[in-house]
Amino acid sequence: MDINVKGLIEEAEKARKQAYAPYSNFPVGCAVLGASGTVYRGCNVENASLSLTLCAERAAIAGALCAGEREILALAIISHSPEPISPCGACRQFILEFGEDITVIMADRDKRYEVKKIKELLPLPFKL
Ligand code: THU
Repeated sequence: MDINVKGLIEEAEKARKQAYAPYSNFPVGCAVLGASGTVYRGCNVENASLSLTLCAERAAIAGALCAGEREILALAIISHSPEPISPCGACRQFILEFGEDITVIMADRDKRYEVKKIKELLPLPFKL
């Protein structure tokens, strides 16, 4: 399936607007493209107990899985930063669980982007 990179970034930006980030003021949006062709959005959800914070990527992937997707083709993430946002280490491990060839599109506030495979972002992942 072709990946509509710009369309996925637009969906991630819609998700970013829903972010709950009162502690960091760093809203993040993510859009996941499932093998079915459906796009699932997720945003970061923070908590007064800071370590409970849920990243946008994990929120979006959980939504996709809960909807019945088992294969993820790509995801886009965006924040308001001047450089493309790069997923945190925990999210890299979480993304790779669903396929080492998943395409990760990392966008900045002007929607300029970089594209990598998750296996490039997380070499030597933990596996059971
Ligand atoms: N955050 C994400 O949503 N995804 C990442 O990959 C990195 C960080 C969020 C967590 C927190 O709400 C805020 O960005 C600042 O760390």
